[in-house]
Amino acid sequence: MPETEIKEKKKIILSAIQPSGTFTLGNYLGALRNWVRLQDDYNCIFAVADLHAITVRQDPKVFKKNILDAYALLLACGIDPEKSPTFIQSHVPTHAQLAWVLNCYTQFGELSRMTQFKDKSQKHADNVNAGLFTYPSLMAADILLYKADMVPVGADQKQHLEIARNIAERFNGIYGNTFTLPEPYIASTGARVMSLQDPTRKMSKSDENTNAWVALLDKPETIMKKFRRAVTDSEAVVRVGEGKDGINNLIGIMSVITGKTSEEIEKDFEGKGYGDFKTAVGEAVVEELRPIQQRFDELIKNKDYLEEQYKKGAEFALRISQRTLDKAMKKIGFVLR
Ligand code: TRP
Repeated sequence: MPETEIKEKKKIILSAIQPSGTFTLGNYLGALRNWVRLQDDYNCIFAVADLHAITVRQDPKVFKKNILDAYALLLACGIDPEKSPTFIQSHVPTHAQLAWVLNCYTQFGELSRMTQFKDKSQKHADNVNAGLFTYPSLMAADILLYKADMVPVGADQKQHLEIARNIAERFNGIYGNTFTLPEPYIASTGARVMSLQDPTRKMSKSDENTNAWVALLDKPETIMKKFRRAVTDSEAVVRVGEGKDGINNLIGIMSVITGKTSEEIEKDFEGKGYGDFKTAVGEAVVEELRPIQQRFDELIKNKDYLEEQYKKGAEFALRISQRTLDKAMKKIGFVLR
């Protein structure tokens, strides 16, 4: 995106995703698919949040692969880096710089209240590092550096967006208007995709039972197998209902992919059993992911193209973010070089 374009009235949307292995169907239907659509109406900026990922231990070889895979997958899903600058967080040093500054305007108490910190420090009890604790200030930096008006977030990141707002507000209160206060962007379409094995829980790639989640790069046979094994209920009627979490989830997935309402889907499957329905949902997912997988296979072979794109993304990001960083540091009283 040429620099002048960001000055247009279009609102700025920023989002980032951690390169923690493959993305799931939940990441795609809940977030990425919407990001793709937002590109026309907003000035979008996207990032692979690799700095966030080292708050839990990473294997160097796997980490490296995951970062590039994540970048390629974003493009494969339909993010157009010519339209929406897309970069790798660690390529843009202003993020870590502003994160340090913001750390000094973030209270121990408010970081202690973050539910993600509490969860992750339980899960990784042997590695409750300072980065895990200050994760939200880095995320605040990601957002505030680009004066993002809106951030598309799922329920699990809402608290982090709120703290970003609080930090920005606090800073502005001391030094005068410096940061734009970001709002959550709630998508009108999109599903909260649940585990296929325990549909009361969100689909997550950290689930040890791999039948519980679908990876964007899963082979068609694997996807079909996972949907056929999806946990349902004993009513055997394809309808939305209380206590029918498994079926509700499958109807939700079908609805986002086909654009049909739940009622239309219920009609389509009137008199049909769960077996047919699960197969149909699996097939719809396979067809939705097929072009993404094809594009991914092409992109990941084309390292030069990827490099060209992430370099351009980083240059753009640095240019924009440096201004915000300088402005904040100047207000604090730093001597700028
Ligand atoms: N913390 C987010 C997640 O795990 C990823 C992220 C990092 C992010 N920086 C961000 C999301 C900035 C939105 C805006 O999902």
